[in-house]
Amino acid sequence: MENELTPTRLIREAIRAMQYSYSPYSHFRVGAALLAGSGKIYRGCNIENAAYTPTNCAERTAFFKAVSEGEHEFDAICIVGGKDGILEEYAPPCGVCRQVMMEFCDPETFKIILATDETHYTEFTLKELLPLGFGPGNLR
Ligand code: THU
Repeated sequence: MENELTPTRLIREAIRAMQYSYSPYSHFRVGAALLAGSGKIYRGCNIENAAYTPTNCAERTAFFKAVSEGEHEFDAICIVGGKDGILEEYAPPCGVCRQVMMEFCDPETFKIILATDETHYTEFTLKELLPLGFGPGNLR
């Protein structure tokens, strides 16, 4: 019996999320699946823009969807991505997305899962990908 918290479920959801990637400029398709404290999974894809800078990454799409629904606690995110949606390498989160994670997640425990398929994945904590991150605690 598959446990909700195994990466498999999140990987599957992230791959599903990638189908809606709007990436006509880079053709780099990204999908993310974010597990909230409530147990709900929020999907996100990258959304590009002709003016380039308004582009939103898949991870931030997932976070902003979740926060806008009242979620403020998160356990893990899975990210998949590749040129034309071909998943050959891990797609690590950009610096801006790591900073958004820092706002809402415990860097010691929040898990970032990078995958190419359900059996090939690797996991990091946010702290590993954003050491000495600046967060809400610094303003207290
Ligand atoms: N992208 C993401 O969606 N997440 C990241 O963390 C890295 C980059 C997207 C943005 C853009 O649409 C495309 O990948 C190429 O940079």
